[in-house]
Amino acid sequence: MKILVRLCAGSLLLCVILWLCWIKTNTRELPVKLSFLPRTVQLWGYSRLPDGEPLIRSSCETCAVVSSSGQMLSSGLGHQIDQAKCILRMNVAPTLGYESDVGSRSTLRVVSHTSVPLLLRNQTYFFQQSQDTAYVIWGPPRQMNIDSGITYRALLQAKGRHPGVQIYTLTQNMMVHCDQIFQNETGKNRAMSGAFLSTGWFTMILAMELCDEITVYGMVSENYCREQSHPPVPYHYYEKGRLDECSMYMMHERALRGAHRFITEKAIFSRWASRKRIHFSHPSWGS
Ligand SMILES: *[C@@H]1O[C@H](CO)[C@@H](O)[C@H](O)[C@H]1NC(C)=O
Ligand SMILES: *[C@@H]1O[C@H](CO)[C@@H](O)[C@H](O)[C@H]1NC(C)=O
Repeated sequence: MKILVRLCAGSLLLCVILWLCWIKTNTRELPVKLSFLPRTVQLWGYSRLPDGEPLIRSSCETCAVVSSSGQMLSSGLGHQIDQAKCILRMNVAPTLGYESDVGSRSTLRVVSHTSVPLLLRNQTYFFQQSQDTAYVIWGPPRQMNIDSGITYRALLQAKGRHPGVQIYTLTQNMMVHCDQIFQNETGKNRAMSGAFLSTGWFTMILAMELCDEITVYGMVSENYCREQSHPPVPYHYYEKGRLDECSMYMMHERALRGAHRFITEKAIFSRWASRKRIHFSHPSWGS
């Protein structure tokens, strides 16, 4: 308060601003904490199909972000994952048949526009058996535009067939924001550096908005693939016999254009984890 008074002598405007800030930070402590009420979050970067409402949910004290990596095979972590308040999955990674390794509940599923055709090919599984799951679709304006986007129209049709299903799309402002976060963290323009953001990137950003504490399952660290003697695992736990995970990551990191920067993204996640309550499990990233 003493500093405040001294600064007030200097500038009346600054004084008023500081005074308002002081009131704001201090009155936050005054009311009795209503922590027994579930806190809801309104996320304006996500737009509900077809009415454009924001994503509104009670916030999640604990979240499990389950990667689609082959690291999940034989993890036996399904039970632990299912204990989380909210469970986030990516693209079309199934739980059916993999419950003991990846769990069985899905609160949110973040899906790339490129995976939407796969989602729509199996509507019985995704839209009928998983009624409680909200689908969050990201993609460029050409695909996701409300008036003419092919992907948007296909989703709209699916919503017509399955009225109970909750589908959201990232707003174009949110897409730009996610690019800005990449640029801020890397100093590189995402598009000019020839990179596409991964579904993991959008999932981590959504999780940070929604969750108090996040445990990420099955995501390898920035250095994992450069270290020796890891047995190869499939890139996706549900697709065996394709390119292994590390070969895929290395190939993408080196490609000049049209590639994901999985390894760069993981270095950024690691920085976020040093500031927020984010933990990495199986493999663990250390403390
Ligand atoms: C839909 O997905 C489930 C879970 O992966 C799978 O068991 C089923 O065979 C799929 N159905 C079709 C028609 O692809
Ligand atoms: C940019 O990065 C800095 C440092 O990592 C961070 O403090 C800041 O919040 C970021 N801003 C945006 C808009 O992402």
